[in-house]
Amino acid sequence: MKPLKIGMVGLGRLGKRHAENLALRTPGASIEAACSVVPEELEWAQERLGVKNLFGDYGAMLVSADIDAVFIASSSAVHAAQAIAALKAGKHVFCEKPMGISIQECLEVEAAAAAHPKSTFMVGFVRRFDPSYRYAKELIEQGAIGEPFLVRSQTVDLDEYAAFQVGFVPTSGGIFMDMNIHDIDLARWYLGDEVNSAYAIGGSFVHPEFAQVMDADNTCALLTFSTGKMADLSVSRTAFHGHDTHTEIVGSRGILKIGITPVKNRVEIFDSFGARKPCVRDFYERFEEAFRAEAAAFVECARSGATPIVGARDGTEATRVGFCLTESFRKGRIATIRR
Ligand code: NAI
Repeated sequence: MKPLKIGMVGLGRLGKRHAENLALRTPGASIEAACSVVPEELEWAQERLGVKNLFGDYGAMLVSADIDAVFIASSSAVHAAQAIAALKAGKHVFCEKPMGISIQECLEVEAAAAAHPKSTFMVGFVRRFDPSYRYAKELIEQGAIGEPFLVRSQTVDLDEYAAFQVGFVPTSGGIFMDMNIHDIDLARWYLGDEVNSAYAIGGSFVHPEFAQVMDADNTCALLTFSTGKMADLSVSRTAFHGHDTHTEIVGSRGILKIGITPVKNRVEIFDSFGARKPCVRDFYERFEEAFRAEAAAFVECARSGATPIVGARDGTEATRVGFCLTESFRKGRIATIRR
Protein backbone atom coordinates (compact mmCIF):
# COMPACT_ATOMS: atom_id res chain seq x y z
CA MET A 1 0.00 0.00 0.00
CA LYS A 2 1.18 3.53 -0.79
CA PRO A 3 1.89 5.85 2.14
CA LEU A 4 -0.83 8.33 3.10
CA LYS A 5 0.31 11.79 1.97
CA ILE A 6 -0.63 14.27 4.69
CA GLY A 7 -0.93 18.04 4.86
CA MET A 8 -0.28 19.12 8.47
CA VAL A 9 -2.37 22.10 9.60
CA GLY A 10 -1.22 24.01 12.69
CA LEU A 11 2.26 23.55 14.14
CA GLY A 12 1.84 25.03 17.60
CA ARG A 13 2.18 23.33 21.00
CA LEU A 14 0.33 20.18 19.90
CA GLY A 15 0.70 20.37 16.11
CA LYS A 16 4.49 19.92 16.38
CA ARG A 17 3.98 16.76 18.46
CA HIS A 18 1.47 15.37 15.96
CA ALA A 19 3.80 16.23 13.07
CA GLU A 20 6.73 14.44 14.69
CA ASN A 21 4.58 11.39 15.41
CA LEU A 22 3.28 11.23 11.84
CA ALA A 23 6.63 11.86 10.17
CA LEU A 24 8.91 9.81 12.41
CA ARG A 25 6.81 7.17 14.20
CA THR A 26 3.71 6.29 12.17
CA PRO A 27 4.05 3.50 9.58
CA GLY A 28 2.38 4.34 6.26
CA ALA A 29 2.32 8.11 6.82
CA SER A 30 4.25 10.83 5.04
CA ILE A 31 3.97 14.59 5.63
CA GLU A 32 4.02 16.17 2.17
CA ALA A 33 2.91 19.68 3.11
CA ALA A 34 2.48 21.90 6.16
CA CYS A 35 0.36 24.96 6.84
CA SER A 36 0.65 27.52 9.63
CA VAL A 37 0.03 31.24 10.01
CA VAL A 38 3.31 31.49 11.94
CA PRO A 39 6.37 31.58 9.58
CA GLU A 40 8.76 30.24 12.27
CA GLU A 41 6.61 27.12 12.61
CA LEU A 42 6.90 26.45 8.87
CA GLU A 43 10.70 26.85 9.15
CA TRP A 44 10.60 24.29 11.97
CA ALA A 45 8.71 21.81 9.74
CA GLN A 46 11.30 22.26 7.00
CA GLU A 47 14.32 21.96 9.26
CA ARG A 48 13.11 19.29 11.70
CA LEU A 49 11.05 17.10 9.33
CA GLY A 50 12.27 18.04 5.85
CA VAL A 51 8.82 19.17 4.70
CA LYS A 52 9.27 21.10 1.43
CA ASN A 53 5.76 22.30 0.58
CA LEU A 54 4.98 25.06 3.06
CA PHE A 55 1.84 27.21 3.11
CA GLY A 56 0.68 30.25 5.07
CA ASP A 57 -2.73 29.89 3.46
CA TYR A 58 -4.83 26.77 4.04
CA GLY A 59 -6.92 27.14 0.87
CA ALA A 60 -3.75 27.31 -1.22
CA MET A 61 -2.51 24.08 0.34
CA LEU A 62 -5.75 22.28 -0.47
CA VAL A 63 -5.61 23.43 -4.09
CA SER A 64 -1.95 22.92 -4.91
CA ALA A 65 -0.37 20.32 -2.56
CA ASP A 66 -0.24 16.66 -3.57
CA ILE A 67 -1.98 15.30 -0.43
CA ASP A 68 -4.54 12.59 0.40
CA ALA A 69 -5.37 13.85 3.90
CA VAL A 70 -5.22 16.83 6.24
CA PHE A 71 -4.32 16.57 9.93
CA ILE A 72 -5.89 19.63 11.59
CA ALA A 73 -4.27 20.93 14.80
CA SER A 74 -4.96 24.61 14.21
CA SER A 75 -6.88 26.94 16.55
CA SER A 76 -10.28 25.48 17.55
CA ALA A 77 -12.17 28.42 16.01
CA VAL A 78 -11.10 27.37 12.49
CA HIS A 79 -11.42 23.56 12.79
CA ALA A 80 -14.92 23.27 11.32
CA ALA A 81 -14.31 25.50 8.28
CA GLN A 82 -11.00 23.75 7.56
CA ALA A 83 -12.56 20.28 7.94
CA ILE A 84 -15.46 21.11 5.59
CA ALA A 85 -13.14 22.58 2.94
CA ALA A 86 -10.92 19.47 3.06
CA LEU A 87 -13.88 17.08 2.78
CA LYS A 88 -15.17 19.05 -0.23
CA ALA A 89 -11.70 18.73 -1.78
CA GLY A 90 -11.92 14.93 -1.39
CA LYS A 91 -9.37 14.61 1.45
CA HIS A 92 -9.39 12.36 4.50
CA VAL A 93 -9.62 14.49 7.65
CA PHE A 94 -8.24 14.21 11.16
CA CYS A 95 -9.64 17.09 13.23
CA GLU A 96 -8.39 17.96 16.72
CA LYS A 97 -10.99 18.52 19.44
CA PRO A 98 -13.27 20.38 19.64
CA MET A 99 -14.61 19.65 16.14
CA GLY A 100 -16.21 23.10 16.24
CA ILE A 101 -17.01 25.71 18.85
CA SER A 102 -20.67 26.16 17.82
CA ILE A 103 -23.34 23.51 17.40
CA GLN A 104 -24.27 24.82 13.96
CA GLU A 105 -20.77 24.51 12.54
CA CYS A 106 -20.49 20.98 13.94
CA LEU A 107 -23.73 20.00 12.22
CA GLU A 108 -22.25 21.36 8.99
CA VAL A 109 -19.11 19.24 9.46
CA GLU A 110 -21.27 16.20 10.13
CA ALA A 111 -23.26 16.84 6.94
CA ALA A 112 -20.05 17.26 4.92
CA ALA A 113 -18.62 14.01 6.35
CA ALA A 114 -21.86 12.17 5.48
CA ALA A 115 -21.77 13.61 1.94
CA HIS A 116 -18.21 12.30 1.44
CA PRO A 117 -18.35 8.72 2.73
CA LYS A 118 -15.11 7.71 0.98
CA SER A 119 -13.18 10.22 3.06
CA THR A 120 -12.17 9.04 6.52
CA PHE A 121 -13.20 11.55 9.18
CA MET A 122 -11.90 11.31 12.73
CA VAL A 123 -12.02 13.66 15.75
CA GLY A 124 -9.11 13.81 18.21
CA PHE A 125 -10.63 12.48 21.41
CA VAL A 126 -7.26 11.11 22.38
CA ARG A 127 -8.28 9.45 25.65
CA ARG A 128 -10.15 6.79 23.69
CA PHE A 129 -6.71 5.62 22.47
CA ASP A 130 -5.06 5.47 25.90
CA PRO A 131 -4.42 1.85 26.96
CA SER A 132 -6.05 2.28 30.41
CA TYR A 133 -9.14 4.05 29.08
CA ARG A 134 -9.49 1.40 26.33
CA TYR A 135 -9.11 -1.42 28.85
CA ALA A 136 -11.86 0.15 30.98
CA LYS A 137 -14.12 0.21 27.91
CA GLU A 138 -13.41 -3.48 27.25
CA LEU A 139 -14.20 -4.35 30.88
CA ILE A 140 -17.52 -2.49 30.66
CA GLU A 141 -18.38 -4.31 27.44
CA GLN A 142 -17.62 -7.62 29.17
CA GLY A 143 -20.05 -6.69 31.95
CA ALA A 144 -17.32 -6.48 34.60
CA ILE A 145 -19.10 -3.72 36.58
CA GLY A 146 -22.68 -4.53 35.57
CA GLU A 147 -24.59 -1.60 34.10
CA PRO A 148 -22.56 1.65 34.26
CA PHE A 149 -24.68 4.55 35.50
CA LEU A 150 -22.29 7.27 36.70
CA VAL A 151 -19.07 8.75 35.31
CA ARG A 152 -16.95 11.03 37.48
CA SER A 153 -14.14 12.60 35.50
CA GLN A 154 -11.77 15.53 35.82
CA THR A 155 -9.22 17.38 33.73
CA VAL A 156 -6.67 19.33 35.75
CA ASP A 157 -3.71 21.34 34.50
CA LEU A 158 -0.76 22.89 36.29
CA ASP A 159 -1.24 26.49 37.43
CA GLU A 160 1.88 27.58 35.54
CA TYR A 161 0.02 27.17 32.22
CA ALA A 162 -2.79 29.56 33.25
CA ALA A 163 -1.22 32.63 31.64
CA PHE A 164 -1.06 30.81 28.29
CA GLN A 165 -4.62 29.52 28.74
CA VAL A 166 -6.08 33.02 29.28
CA GLY A 167 -4.84 33.99 25.82
CA PHE A 168 -6.26 30.74 24.42
CA VAL A 169 -9.88 31.41 25.57
CA PRO A 170 -11.03 33.61 22.64
CA THR A 171 -10.31 30.86 20.08
CA SER A 172 -10.77 27.71 22.23
CA GLY A 173 -14.47 28.07 23.08
CA GLY A 174 -13.70 28.35 26.83
CA ILE A 175 -13.01 25.92 29.64
CA PHE A 176 -15.89 23.48 28.97
CA MET A 177 -15.28 23.27 25.22
CA ASP A 178 -11.52 23.18 25.51
CA MET A 179 -10.90 20.99 28.57
CA ASN A 180 -14.11 19.32 29.83
CA ILE A 181 -14.87 18.18 26.28
CA HIS A 182 -12.64 15.14 26.83
CA ASP A 183 -14.61 14.17 29.97
CA ILE A 184 -17.90 14.73 28.12
CA ASP A 185 -16.78 12.39 25.35
CA LEU A 186 -15.71 9.75 27.87
CA ALA A 187 -19.04 9.94 29.70
CA ARG A 188 -20.98 9.41 26.44
CA TRP A 189 -18.62 6.60 25.42
CA TYR A 190 -18.73 4.71 28.69
CA LEU A 191 -22.44 5.22 29.40
CA GLY A 192 -23.56 4.62 25.80
CA ASP A 193 -26.16 7.34 26.15
CA GLU A 194 -26.82 10.98 25.16
CA VAL A 195 -27.01 13.96 27.51
CA ASN A 196 -30.35 15.72 27.93
CA SER A 197 -29.55 18.34 30.56
CA ALA A 198 -26.45 20.11 31.81
CA TYR A 199 -25.62 22.33 34.77
CA ALA A 200 -22.35 24.06 35.49
CA ILE A 201 -20.89 26.31 38.13
CA GLY A 202 -17.42 27.76 38.41
CA GLY A 203 -15.30 30.75 39.23
CA SER A 204 -11.98 32.47 38.84
CA PHE A 205 -10.59 31.69 42.26
CA VAL A 206 -6.89 32.04 41.55
CA HIS A 207 -6.67 34.07 38.32
CA PRO A 208 -9.32 36.84 38.05
CA GLU A 209 -8.29 37.40 34.43
CA PHE A 210 -10.38 34.37 33.40
CA ALA A 211 -13.53 36.12 34.68
CA GLN A 212 -12.68 39.12 32.48
CA VAL A 213 -13.04 36.88 29.40
CA MET A 214 -16.25 35.26 30.81
CA ASP A 215 -14.39 32.06 31.65
CA ALA A 216 -13.26 30.34 34.86
CA ASP A 217 -10.21 28.66 36.33
CA ASN A 218 -12.16 25.95 38.22
CA THR A 219 -15.54 24.44 37.30
CA CYS A 220 -17.96 21.67 38.30
CA ALA A 221 -20.58 20.22 35.95
CA LEU A 222 -23.46 17.79 36.27
CA LEU A 223 -24.99 15.97 33.29
CA THR A 224 -28.12 13.85 33.13
CA PHE A 225 -28.52 11.38 30.27
CA SER A 226 -31.69 10.27 28.48
CA THR A 227 -31.94 7.09 30.59
CA GLY A 228 -31.32 8.96 33.85
CA LYS A 229 -27.61 8.03 33.97
CA MET A 230 -25.31 10.74 35.35
CA ALA A 231 -21.93 12.40 34.98
CA ASP A 232 -20.05 14.59 37.43
CA LEU A 233 -17.25 16.42 35.63
CA SER A 234 -14.77 18.99 36.83
CA VAL A 235 -11.90 21.09 35.55
CA SER A 236 -9.09 22.97 37.22
CA ARG A 237 -6.44 25.16 35.66
CA THR A 238 -4.75 25.74 39.02
CA ALA A 239 -3.08 22.54 40.23
CA PHE A 240 0.36 22.62 41.82
CA HIS A 241 1.14 18.89 41.82
CA GLY A 242 0.89 18.02 38.11
CA HIS A 243 -1.50 17.21 35.27
CA ASP A 244 -4.21 15.27 37.06
CA THR A 245 -6.70 13.75 34.64
CA HIS A 246 -8.64 10.88 36.17
CA THR A 247 -11.95 9.09 35.73
CA GLU A 248 -14.25 6.74 37.63
CA ILE A 249 -17.05 4.67 36.14
CA VAL A 250 -19.61 3.43 38.66
CA GLY A 251 -21.73 0.43 37.69
CA SER A 252 -24.41 -1.74 39.26
CA ARG A 253 -21.77 -4.35 40.27
CA GLY A 254 -18.52 -2.45 40.64
CA ILE A 255 -16.41 0.61 39.97
CA LEU A 256 -13.52 1.26 37.58
CA LYS A 257 -10.98 3.94 38.54
CA ILE A 258 -8.52 5.18 35.92
CA GLY A 259 -5.37 7.09 36.89
CA ILE A 260 -6.64 8.35 40.25
CA THR A 261 -3.12 9.31 41.36
CA PRO A 262 -1.26 10.88 38.40
CA VAL A 263 2.04 9.11 38.95
CA LYS A 264 4.90 9.66 36.53
CA ASN A 265 6.11 6.07 36.88
CA ARG A 266 6.66 3.44 39.61
CA VAL A 267 9.41 5.33 41.47
CA GLU A 268 8.74 6.55 45.01
CA ILE A 269 11.06 9.07 46.67
CA PHE A 270 11.82 8.65 50.39
CA ASP A 271 13.68 11.70 51.69
CA SER A 272 13.52 14.57 54.17
CA PHE A 273 10.14 15.67 52.64
CA GLY A 274 8.56 12.26 53.29
CA ALA A 275 7.56 9.38 51.01
CA ARG A 276 6.16 10.59 47.67
CA LYS A 277 5.63 9.79 44.02
CA PRO A 278 6.53 12.19 41.18
CA CYS A 279 3.56 13.32 38.98
CA VAL A 280 3.14 13.73 35.25
CA ARG A 281 3.49 17.43 34.34
CA ASP A 282 1.29 17.98 31.33
CA PHE A 283 -1.29 16.42 29.03
CA TYR A 284 1.32 15.31 26.53
CA GLU A 285 3.39 13.44 29.07
CA ARG A 286 0.24 11.68 30.32
CA PHE A 287 -1.16 10.80 26.89
CA GLU A 288 1.92 10.46 24.67
CA GLU A 289 1.24 6.79 23.94
CA ALA A 290 -2.40 7.60 23.15
CA PHE A 291 -1.43 10.39 20.73
CA ARG A 292 0.77 7.93 18.84
CA ALA A 293 -1.96 5.29 18.75
CA GLU A 294 -4.49 7.90 17.61
CA ALA A 295 -2.27 9.00 14.68
CA ALA A 296 -1.68 5.36 13.71
CA ALA A 297 -5.43 4.64 13.85
CA PHE A 298 -6.24 7.57 11.56
CA VAL A 299 -3.60 6.55 9.00
CA GLU A 300 -4.75 2.91 9.14
CA CYS A 301 -8.43 3.86 8.64
CA ALA A 302 -7.66 6.26 5.77
CA ARG A 303 -5.54 3.63 3.98
CA SER A 304 -7.85 0.65 4.57
CA GLY A 305 -11.27 2.30 4.52
CA ALA A 306 -12.06 1.07 8.05
CA THR A 307 -14.38 3.25 10.16
CA PRO A 308 -12.67 5.17 13.00
CA ILE A 309 -13.92 4.59 16.56
CA VAL A 310 -14.66 8.30 16.95
CA GLY A 311 -16.43 10.24 14.22
CA ALA A 312 -18.25 13.45 13.35
CA ARG A 313 -21.35 12.68 15.40
CA ASP A 314 -19.16 12.30 18.52
CA GLY A 315 -17.65 15.68 17.69
CA THR A 316 -21.07 17.32 17.43
CA GLU A 317 -22.48 15.78 20.61
CA ALA A 318 -19.46 16.74 22.69
CA THR A 319 -19.60 20.34 21.43
CA ARG A 320 -23.36 20.40 22.02
CA VAL A 321 -22.83 19.50 25.68
CA GLY A 322 -19.81 21.81 26.04
CA PHE A 323 -21.82 24.67 24.58
CA CYS A 324 -24.75 24.01 26.95
CA LEU A 325 -22.41 23.86 29.95
CA THR A 326 -20.97 27.23 28.92
CA GLU A 327 -24.51 28.66 28.69
CA SER A 328 -25.45 27.15 32.04
CA PHE A 329 -22.32 28.56 33.72
CA ARG A 330 -22.89 32.04 32.29
CA LYS A 331 -26.65 32.19 32.95
CA GLY A 332 -26.69 30.32 36.27
CA ARG A 333 -29.39 27.80 35.32
CA ILE A 334 -29.82 24.27 34.00
CA ALA A 335 -29.53 23.96 30.22
CA THR A 336 -31.87 21.54 28.47
CA ILE A 337 -30.31 19.96 25.43
CA ARG A 338 -32.40 20.02 22.25
CA ARG A 339 -31.65 18.04 19.09
P1 NAI B 1 -1.33 26.75 19.52
O1 NAI B 1 -1.92 28.10 19.70
O2 NAI B 1 -0.01 26.45 20.14
O3 NAI B 1 -1.22 26.44 17.95
C1 NAI B 1 -2.21 26.79 17.05
C2 NAI B 1 -1.69 26.59 15.64
O4 NAI B 1 -2.77 26.86 14.73
C3 NAI B 1 -0.54 27.49 15.22
O5 NAI B 1 0.40 26.70 14.51
C4 NAI B 1 -1.18 28.47 14.23
O6 NAI B 1 -0.28 28.86 13.22
C5 NAI B 1 -2.25 27.58 13.63
N1 NAI B 1 -3.33 28.30 12.99
C6 NAI B 1 -4.21 29.17 13.55
N2 NAI B 1 -5.08 29.61 12.61
C7 NAI B 1 -4.74 29.00 11.46
C8 NAI B 1 -5.25 29.04 10.14
N3 NAI B 1 -6.30 29.81 9.82
N4 NAI B 1 -4.66 28.25 9.19
C9 NAI B 1 -3.61 27.48 9.51
N5 NAI B 1 -3.07 27.41 10.73
C10 NAI B 1 -3.63 28.16 11.68
O7 NAI B 1 -2.43 25.73 20.03
P2 NAI B 1 -2.27 24.21 20.48
O8 NAI B 1 -2.14 24.13 21.94
O9 NAI B 1 -1.26 23.53 19.63
O10 NAI B 1 -3.74 23.65 20.13
C11 NAI B 1 -4.11 23.40 18.79
C12 NAI B 1 -5.39 22.60 18.80
O11 NAI B 1 -5.16 21.36 19.43
C13 NAI B 1 -6.54 23.27 19.56
O12 NAI B 1 -7.71 23.10 18.82
C14 NAI B 1 -6.64 22.50 20.86
O13 NAI B 1 -7.96 22.41 21.34
C15 NAI B 1 -6.12 21.14 20.46
N6 NAI B 1 -5.47 20.45 21.58
C16 NAI B 1 -5.86 19.19 21.86
C17 NAI B 1 -5.32 18.51 22.92
C18 NAI B 1 -5.76 17.12 23.22
O14 NAI B 1 -5.60 16.67 24.36
N7 NAI B 1 -6.28 16.39 22.27
C19 NAI B 1 -4.32 19.13 23.80
C20 NAI B 1 -3.91 20.45 23.35
C21 NAI B 1 -4.49 21.08 22.30
